[in-house]
Amino acid sequence: MADLVNVDYNTSIPNNVNLADDRRVLKALEKWHPGYLNWWSNMGPEGFQESLVYLRTAVSVDPKGWAKFGYVKMPEYRWGILLAPEEEGRTIPCGEHAGKPAWQEVPGEYRSMLRRLIVIQGDTEPASVEQQRHLGQTAPSLYDMRNLFQVNVEEGRHLWAMVYLLQKYFGADGREEADMLLERQSGSEDHPRMLGAFNEATPDWLSFFMFTYFTDRDGKMQLEALAQSGFDPLSRTCRFMLTEEAHHMFVGETGVGRVIQRTCEAMKEAGITDPYDINAVRALGVIDLPTIQKKANMHYSLSLDLFGSEISTNAANAFNSGIKGRYREAKIEDDHKLEKDTYPVLRLIDGKVVISDEPALSAINMRLRDDYVKDATGGVNRWNNILKKEGVEFQITLPHVAFHRHQGEFSAIHADPEGNLLSSEEWEKRRDEWLPSKADGDFIDSLMKPQWEPGKYAGWISPPRVGIDNKPGDFEYVKVSGVAQNA
Ligand SMILES: [Fe+2]
Ligand SMILES: [Fe+2]
Repeated sequence: MADLVNVDYNTSIPNNVNLADDRRVLKALEKWHPGYLNWWSNMGPEGFQESLVYLRTAVSVDPKGWAKFGYVKMPEYRWGILLAPEEEGRTIPCGEHAGKPAWQEVPGEYRSMLRRLIVIQGDTEPASVEQQRHLGQTAPSLYDMRNLFQVNVEEGRHLWAMVYLLQKYFGADGREEADMLLERQSGSEDHPRMLGAFNEATPDWLSFFMFTYFTDRDGKMQLEALAQSGFDPLSRTCRFMLTEEAHHMFVGETGVGRVIQRTCEAMKEAGITDPYDINAVRALGVIDLPTIQKKANMHYSLSLDLFGSEISTNAANAFNSGIKGRYREAKIEDDHKLEKDTYPVLRLIDGKVVISDEPALSAINMRLRDDYVKDATGGVNRWNNILKKEGVEFQITLPHVAFHRHQGEFSAIHADPEGNLLSSEEWEKRRDEWLPSKADGDFIDSLMKPQWEPGKYAGWISPPRVGIDNKPGDFEYVKVSGVAQNA
């Protein structure tokens, strides 16, 4: 009898799904494994494959102690397959089958929809590793470098999680999709990743922090919605992925917070009170607050695009079939069918941004995006508390949802961060006021010098308040050895 909580390390792939007795799937995964390692060495963190990194590895799904910390070389990381424990008597939480027992096998009528959703989720996981692969070279500290690599290996594990579902439940076409997840590449002309934000560059560490704050949070919301799936193996998979995902957003939130903190301190030391005196602030070797705002505008708006169209038949079908629920579906008090309900949607009607009541089923994406916006506001408030505490008069704000959009209602128009519509000419003229310009990028790039001495931090970012796994300030989170620090 397999232990459902502890990981089975007896096979080459650690798992709590009894792979040892599932020869067909074990074989398929073992066949996929070399291609994955090959992808990791070609597209994973550039230059640190031999370094010892202080990483956590998931060794169980017990909420009280699922991770084990220790030094590992990343290619030897134990990427495992872990599903949250089965819930006795779980039922389909929403849609026309609500209340019936959750599916343990793929429901035939929804097979292609399910496969598509798993493939889209799976595609985002390796994409972010590819986007971040060069960042180790310019890490502002070993602490930050370690956090980057932690996020990277866990996105790798999330890819494993989706590949397991494809291979276990979708036969030959599942195996084909699993192979294609290693073939598409972020930013590639011929085989790009499936979603826009995952083909954008992550050029510097401020972008990395914004990405993990805003874009990993889209990932969180998608996982939350899939965790509500009536297809139980998908639900259990996503529930455990969410445990890891929380750290990614922590890295983003505290990363941006530490950049803001350092900028405030440097301004105070130099007696600069005007945050818009950009040249004076930049001369201190820190990132000025208006540029931080522009980066937030960029990553927030790209992340909003990931929710798709506000009004969507696909989303309605996924909900109605019980394949994808709403955020915290089980805790919502309604009939979970939404046949007669409406939901307020921000739309562009006759050239104006207006709230319009739409059938709730069609507005599932909009609702998830609204939940996302609420969720994303918390960290922004904490950034603003840093500014307040430091006595700097500046506020980070989230731009209007019509700003800089490429999907849905507002993709055809231009708007400023307050949501005022603009002509194309005006947008072109003013774009650099709201989004990072080439000059902003060049300036940030000029600060991206590696700092790999234990306990030291680059001048543009504050040290964290506490270490990872309660380690002391001068802990050597990465034993870099053999990689030249090209300062
Ligand atoms: Fe992930
Ligand atoms: Fe993540």
